[in-house]
Amino acid sequence: MKVITAKTAGFCFGVKRAVDKVYEQAEKGETPVYTYGPIIHNEEVVKDLEKKGVMVIGSAEELSQLHEGTVVIRSHGVSKEIYDMIKQQGLHLIDATCPFVLKIHNIVREQSAKGARIVIIGNKSHPEVEGIYGWCDGGAAVIATEEEALNFTSTPGQKICIVSQTTFNYNKFNKLVEIISEKGYDILVLNTICNATAERQTEAAEIAKAVDAMIVIGGRNSSNTQKLFEICKNECENTYYIQTLVDLDVHSLPSMSCVGITAGASTPNKIIEEVQNNVRNEL
Ligand code: F3S
Repeated sequence: MKVITAKTAGFCFGVKRAVDKVYEQAEKGETPVYTYGPIIHNEEVVKDLEKKGVMVIGSAEELSQLHEGTVVIRSHGVSKEIYDMIKQQGLHLIDATCPFVLKIHNIVREQSAKGARIVIIGNKSHPEVEGIYGWCDGGAAVIATEEEALNFTSTPGQKICIVSQTTFNYNKFNKLVEIISEKGYDILVLNTICNATAERQTEAAEIAKAVDAMIVIGGRNSSNTQKLFEICKNECENTYYIQTLVDLDVHSLPSMSCVGITAGASTPNKIIEEVQNNVRNEL
């Protein structure tokens, strides 16, 4: 029996960096440590951090009540307003925004300051998009569907700068850009999609194609894990979605000679290893 674990399974560079920073702060134990929103979509990690005294701030209102401690900004980043609020309240700020997201903040800040109309291709309610929006001088149009792209209008003569949410689907991004391009505006397109997601998805599909069963590990609410599951299920009928080892009943898996494992961007290595070892030993 062979077990193939995807090399790209689990934390991407930006998430690993953010999680490491929170643990680093928690271990110092100097001041109360907060994260603005859960550091990642993984209940296990959030609970573990909670045990170490790390608290999650859920909103700007909650943030406005704090007057001491360290606030860690997660890899998604935040709007300029939140950033300023943390500083103005005299809180210690640890910025764990992924450098790829920071790059988008800089682009939209500079381009909107020069008068360009910003278009963000992404999901309006995603925290990363809310953060990017908050660095645009004069707001931005957020577009996620073909219908929204078709309905998009701008002031004639105004330059348009298009960026993308880092985790947006590449083909969909191209399609939406194509629709906007046909409107004849002066457009600057910056593809800011991060390769980590595409690489993880491509590798998962390749493995799923070659195995008898595929295990996808990740939080129930993690959209990138849900997507991974869909991709694997398309290639391999015996695909299982689990959060941790507890959800996996190895004996219920049909007899097989090869099992593949991948995991969403928020799944800690420890969980991936546990599943991998268990599958190896049990089958
Ligand atoms: Fe950063 Fe890409 Fe991960 S943008 S947080 S490395 S998915």
